[in-house]
Amino acid sequence: MNITTPSKITVRKIPSSRINEVNFNSLQFGSVFSDHMFSCDFKEGRWQDPIIQPFGPLTISPAAKVFHYGQAVFEGMKAYKDDNGGIFLFRPEQNFKRINKSAKRMAIPEFPKELFFDALNEILQLDSEWIKPGIGNSLYIRPFVIATQAGVSASPSTEYKFMILLSPAQAYYTGDVKVVFSEHYSRAADGGVGFAKAAGNYGAQFYPTNLAREKGFQQVIWTDSHSHEFLEEAGTMNIFFRINDTLITAPTSDRILDGVTRKSVLKLAETLNIPTEVRRVKVSEIKEAHKNGTLMEIFGAGTAAVISPISTFGHGEKIFDLPVLEESYATMFKSKLMDIQYNRSEDPFGWRYRV
Ligand code: COI
Repeated sequence: MNITTPSKITVRKIPSSRINEVNFNSLQFGSVFSDHMFSCDFKEGRWQDPIIQPFGPLTISPAAKVFHYGQAVFEGMKAYKDDNGGIFLFRPEQNFKRINKSAKRMAIPEFPKELFFDALNEILQLDSEWIKPGIGNSLYIRPFVIATQAGVSASPSTEYKFMILLSPAQAYYTGDVKVVFSEHYSRAADGGVGFAKAAGNYGAQFYPTNLAREKGFQQVIWTDSHSHEFLEEAGTMNIFFRINDTLITAPTSDRILDGVTRKSVLKLAETLNIPTEVRRVKVSEIKEAHKNGTLMEIFGAGTAAVISPISTFGHGEKIFDLPVLEESYATMFKSKLMDIQYNRSEDPFGWRYRV
């Protein structure tokens, strides 16, 4: 039976849940999806027909522009459950703003705020059993928009589909994260789409990342496309460096994603009186700091990756191991962030959103 919510979202529930088929103790990131999905179509100049229905395949014309021109943007968010069954999101307003910022750059119409939040609330309530309590467990939320108009003329689509998928998640990286500083390939350029969560930004990294994997690295740290002298971001996460006690990260720009975890780490550092520098970071500076023993840590920060300490970096043919610290910034930021996300501590910044 179809139900219509106050926000006019049609809800078509799955007859029986698939949840008992899932082993929540060994989840590979992004490979399992919850019972339902949300979708809403843009046609005749407006967003219409919002619906929550059982997760399943779509019927889309093979001529849809998303397949030919990659006109697509996405977001990454997480829902957390506390020990009393309360469900929380972390700074969802930031994701809402960013998906529309990305959409604008890709000539995609903006999605309405009320519908974004109603859809999230509705689907998370419906699939709340898929959010397991306990630190480290979460439900990864993937809102995205694709261009659905059939036609291969190279111009913006007149039709789009906005969707939300939910995927139970644990750690994105398991084990040591080894990265290599890029010397040839680039992720983004000035005036380009690096700041946006545009699908092509990620697809374009796969080939160079495969080459890095063959050499034993999990990720590439992208450098500026002009000189390859400045360290920018890792593609799946922003990057922080700790030299002595100072936390350093590159400024956001046309080329670097304005990460929600990144800006939350900077805010936490400020309140903890940790000296921070938001400035360009040279490869040579990091190598020099490693040589003289002042490079204490490198870690990544992102929604999927949370805070991921880097154990090793490579540049050229050389490999540089980082010290193993008893009290690392990475561990400290991770636990402070998670305490807020899982409703285990005060929320002085108003970052928590109760579903
Ligand atoms: C996220 O952290 O949500 C991301 O979008 C990274 C991703 C490519 C898994």
